[in-house]
Amino acid sequence: MPERLDTRILPMLPLHTGVVLPHMVVTLALETSEARAAVRAARSTDDTLLLVPRTAAGAYAQVGTVAVIEEMGQGPGQVEAVVIRGLHRALIGSGVAGTGEAVWVQVEHRPDPEDGSERAQELAREYRATVENIVEARGAPQVAEFLRGIETPGALADMAGYSPDLSFERKVEVLETLDVEARLEKVLAWAKDSLAEVVLKDRIRTEVAEGMEKNQREYILRQQLDAIRKELGEGDEDDVAEEYRKRIEAANMPGAVRTQAERELGRLERTSPQNPEHGWIRTYLDWLVDVPWSVRTEDNLDIVEARRVLDEDHTGLGDVKDRIIEYLAVRKLRADRGRAEVTGGRGSGAILTLIGPPGVGKTSLGESVARALGRKFVRFSLGGIHDEAEIRGHRRTYVGALPGRIVRALKDAGTKNPVMMLDEIDKVGADWRGDPSSALLEVLDPAQNHTFRDHYLDVDLDLSEVLFIATGNVAETIPGPLLDRMEVIRLDGYTEDEKVAIAQDHLLERQLERHGLELEEVSIGEDALRAIVNDYTREAGVRNLEREIGKLLRKVATRIAGGEVETPVSIDAGAVREYLGRQRFFFEAAERTSVPGVATGLAVTGTGGDVLFVEATRLDDPGSREQPSGEPLTLTGQLGDVMKESAMIALSYVRSHAQELGIQPEALGGRFHVHVPAGAVPKDGPSAGVAMTTALASLLSGRAVKSTVGMTGEVTLQGRVLPIGGVKQKVLAAHRAGLKEVILPGRNEGDLDDVPEQVREEIAFHLATTVEDVLLHALQSPEDDLSEPTAA
Ligand SMILES: Nc1ncnc2c1ncn2[C@@H]1O[C@H](COP(=O)(O)OP(=O)(O)OP(=O)(O)O)[C@@H](O)[C@H]1O
Ligand SMILES: [Mg+2]
Repeated sequence: MPERLDTRILPMLPLHTGVVLPHMVVTLALETSEARAAVRAARSTDDTLLLVPRTAAGAYAQVGTVAVIEEMGQGPGQVEAVVIRGLHRALIGSGVAGTGEAVWVQVEHRPDPEDGSERAQELAREYRATVENIVEARGAPQVAEFLRGIETPGALADMAGYSPDLSFERKVEVLETLDVEARLEKVLAWAKDSLAEVVLKDRIRTEVAEGMEKNQREYILRQQLDAIRKELGEGDEDDVAEEYRKRIEAANMPGAVRTQAERELGRLERTSPQNPEHGWIRTYLDWLVDVPWSVRTEDNLDIVEARRVLDEDHTGLGDVKDRIIEYLAVRKLRADRGRAEVTGGRGSGAILTLIGPPGVGKTSLGESVARALGRKFVRFSLGGIHDEAEIRGHRRTYVGALPGRIVRALKDAGTKNPVMMLDEIDKVGADWRGDPSSALLEVLDPAQNHTFRDHYLDVDLDLSEVLFIATGNVAETIPGPLLDRMEVIRLDGYTEDEKVAIAQDHLLERQLERHGLELEEVSIGEDALRAIVNDYTREAGVRNLEREIGKLLRKVATRIAGGEVETPVSIDAGAVREYLGRQRFFFEAAERTSVPGVATGLAVTGTGGDVLFVEATRLDDPGSREQPSGEPLTLTGQLGDVMKESAMIALSYVRSHAQELGIQPEALGGRFHVHVPAGAVPKDGPSAGVAMTTALASLLSGRAVKSTVGMTGEVTLQGRVLPIGGVKQKVLAAHRAGLKEVILPGRNEGDLDDVPEQVREEIAFHLATTVEDVLLHALQSPEDDLSEPTAA
């Protein structure tokens, strides 16, 4: 057992199913030998230990709870059990070798600050109120009583650990959020979601219960209404039917629909107004006559004009606009030749799909297409929709049935040929129960969509004149059959120059107008725009850029209004700093890679390309003669299986090539930890292989990685470097992050053609076919500590 010099070394008890947060008191059954060992170790010192949740994927949380053993006893079935009280958070450092079976880890204690900030107090009040509402609705007042006894904001947030509404993952998130305000924000948002759900359930319950009463009330009201109408000489129920007859006439429906409408109208006339059925038939008829059966806008597809509109609304995006124009031209040609788009498949019949990170202009391009064609524009999001009925509607036999999104969107458009945008098509399937993609397939298939059937309307609907445009952040998660029907156009993000140009052409003007400022009153210089792009935003698109410009103008407008400055105001880079405060983004890579073991990788996430720092550390003392216990490699940072495999390959490679890499044989033993920090985004895919190998090679050889180098690529056991996807997005991210060199797989050379010229000039590319090539360019040579960029 290690000497107990201080409490910075504690025995660790991994938790597999629950999360114990500070201040919680729980009984734990000691079912595993590791748990028994940890408790024994704690008993032999001062009864404290560290509780660390372990996720299904086998990774440990980055933060644990320091806890004290209050009591030992016997649980059910003679299993040993302990009563434990959580004290406070602690960051987990590396493992410490020790005798005995317990795992000892270094910890850095992180209790919440004594008194919370004002904002924390305020968040705590709101959280308390929200939880009180939830428990009140659920009839558990003792919980509110219990919460009232907890005073500090941080501890209040931690009570979420008891909540049955929160998943294990969310509880881990609470644990890992050291900042009290951020923690409260999270639990507050979740509590609000639960509250909304509770309220909704409640409402449905009372509505069903009150249904009968309501019908009776409605009946009496209707009778009174009829009496009043008669008194006023207005008609009665006959007029209602007459009214519908007129609307049906005006709707100019296709024959079969009209027959159906008249049949329903007949039923309406035969149903007495006090029968609930009466109301349902009226709702149905309202929907049926409101569908734009034969209203359409005239297409004005003049290719030159369309191009002009697209250019007017969007700066740059030359290729994207070319492809949209081609698509429209082919569509027009087919329509002119009277060839209905019945063949489907790839090509002109396919659905235009814009794929790219947030804020690159997908939605606004869709709006421009509608404007160019003189069509109406409607959109809805597929993200977060849960079943097929959302698209197709519920059958009328279902209480509270309504048509699906398609019909609702058509009604909103008011024409049968709008541009209909389906946002977040890449989120289909991911969080969908049932199989809504088959309904979508039907909607998007030109061979089928002229007879689309909404379950509620239950008549054929012709969608063939709708111009569908889908959008998404990534193409990989779109179900195959859907993807097959799509003409994918990628928007990968903008360079600094492009962003500045977009700001000058569009964003600035729009924001000036929004803040009631005249064009002549405020000018923002190019250097100022560059400062905003580089120091205050880090994104592929321009949404935050626009937000920051708005923020700046708001401050300027306030000063103008207060008479503090004279117009015209001109803003330069210095003024940006003055108005927006300290710069938010720095050249992070230099600091991170200053010690051996950290490599800068490049990845593609839903929000575009990004740099990520792969960190390798050692868990045991390499000189230790003890048998290393446990896995040779621990991985953390929410990594997917493929990424874990890459890490294993990286370690095997480095071990088996130690000699060439100049690694001392003694350095090879022991256990390692590879961590990919930053962001709760789950990371997966093989393309971090190169960065992992480099991080491990750097750690073992003691040579730091050059701070100006970013890298991507898959690695095989033999040390070959295989090509990866998303080159353009990754290179743009490297450029944004201020890197000067990028290591890419040799077979990705062709993809460099897609990279904008300006970026190609500012970055040196190294094409690698083997790990050797990679390390040659990635590691600092032992002699020079200064990293000299090597030209490609
Ligand atoms: N090339 C461009 N020229 C002019 N404005 C642009 C350009 N690209 C983006 N914008 C503007 O940036 C803003 C954000 O764009 P938009 O909402 O279309 O993004 P998006 O790609 O649909 O993002 P998300 O994936 O989050 O839906 C809009 O106001 C848009 O007009
Ligand atoms: Mg959008």
